[in-house]
Amino acid sequence: MNAAEKVIVLDFGGQYTQLIARRVRELNVYCEIIPYNIPIEELRAAEPAALIFSGGSASVYDPGTPRCDPRIYELNVPILGICYGMQLMAADLGGEVGNGKRQEFGKTNLFVTDDHDLLAGVEHEFVAWMSHGDQVVTAPPGFNVIARSENTNVAAMVDRTRRLYGLQFHPEVIHTPGGKLILNNFLQRICAFSGEWTMENFVESSTAEINRVLDSRERVVCGLSGGVDSAVAAALVHRAIGDRLVCVFVDHGLMRKGEKEAVMSTFSREFNMNIVAVDAGEEFLTLLRGVTDPEAKRKIIGNHFIRVFEREADKLGEISYLVQGTLYPDVIESGTATAAVIKSHHNVGGLPDDMRLGLIEPLKYLFKDEVRQVGLELGLPEEIVMRHPFPGPGLGVRVLGEVTPEKVAVLQEADAIVIEEIKAAGLYGEIWQAFAVLPNILSVGVKGDRRTYAHTIVLRAVTSHDGMTADWYPMPYDLLGRISSRLVNEIPEVNRFVYDVTTKPPGTIEWE
Ligand code: XMP
Repeated sequence: MNAAEKVIVLDFGGQYTQLIARRVRELNVYCEIIPYNIPIEELRAAEPAALIFSGGSASVYDPGTPRCDPRIYELNVPILGICYGMQLMAADLGGEVGNGKRQEFGKTNLFVTDDHDLLAGVEHEFVAWMSHGDQVVTAPPGFNVIARSENTNVAAMVDRTRRLYGLQFHPEVIHTPGGKLILNNFLQRICAFSGEWTMENFVESSTAEINRVLDSRERVVCGLSGGVDSAVAAALVHRAIGDRLVCVFVDHGLMRKGEKEAVMSTFSREFNMNIVAVDAGEEFLTLLRGVTDPEAKRKIIGNHFIRVFEREADKLGEISYLVQGTLYPDVIESGTATAAVIKSHHNVGGLPDDMRLGLIEPLKYLFKDEVRQVGLELGLPEEIVMRHPFPGPGLGVRVLGEVTPEKVAVLQEADAIVIEEIKAAGLYGEIWQAFAVLPNILSVGVKGDRRTYAHTIVLRAVTSHDGMTADWYPMPYDLLGRISSRLVNEIPEVNRFVYDVTTKPPGTIEWE
């Protein structure tokens, strides 16, 4: 990473804040999100080379509205204010913010009146996404207006001497087609960044960082789950410290078909990693016997997982750190965005206090798609890197009601068929998550001349950006037909297939 090219997005609570950071990173400039009320000393210590003020839903003159320390304008770095961020800048610096002629929401025509820097190369009349009640009525002293809309006299403004810029519209959303060019103008023309933040550089700088912090004998443990995040985190730490990383793969017996083999063949054979596989399926299934309540099942699986991991880690001798595949969205949500990637930490995730493990979270500044790029960069197979998310309790929450080895086996077969067909149709990458569910419903059917009384399989397939909301995927009928026919023909215990067409909310993605 080129540390001299760090952008900090000050978050004023706008709905597109994460999107701003992603767009900046897509333009190969490193970017972090920090709450707007960070003390000015801390902000200065973070050494941003440029700032972006995000949007937000507040009105700048309301009491209690989010404001930053006005000394921020003396940091002498370029600042881009977007929507609320621009209004705040205008209000802070002596301009006037008001209700304007009309509120604007949605696509709006903009007219460029000055294309020297921020709006260079953009069409003189272009479409932008507006979403505001207030607007800047008069730009502050020292500012020039560089664009207007039908309803807004000041749709974009600049003070070139102080390098302060404001946009009333949202350049980060796809509904502003020239938005990426505008952000790029800010980064390249105004900030003079070279744009060297790539995943290749990230791998290099983070492995160097891990080696700088760990002393040359310290050993590290990582729990591998078969999921993308832990896989990439492990591969990255392995690149840094090789054999001093020990991975523990706990097979709770609730994995997808072939999962354990895929993980072992990639990490143990191809990457030659130090990996301990624990076959704990029987223990888990014994504990789950007779348990039907979803929350009780989740607790049993979660608690026992920690116990098994702890037991194995105890056998490894002296260990100083635990690797976790925490991602940036979790960090932003927990409000700890300024914390370091490696820190000393006790009692991690329920592990016993006397283990005194530090934490290594090498992906904590990355978004999911960046993690996938890092995985590919490290040579992990697409099969692992592009995998759909899989919940910790695994098939334990996809076999509804009591979990038995027989039901798990049926579901593993069904899930494998579903995924194989979706991949064969070339649709796997379009879908956030697709999987089979065993709802524990027996129904009557007929196979050949024989009456059957067998299981139903549900297919759940959704699109989503973050798993928080989801829409059911419009699965082509012919594909549904192929899946149906394979399920009922190839799995004797199955005689019926249904497709789940529920959005989230009100449904959840998983069935339990
Ligand atoms: P729901 O079912 O709540 O799921 O709509 C949202 C996303 O979270 C995943 N999920 C989990 N992931 N441990 C995990 O690591 C869990 O216990 C867990 N439960 C749900 C789910 O697969 C979906 O992607």
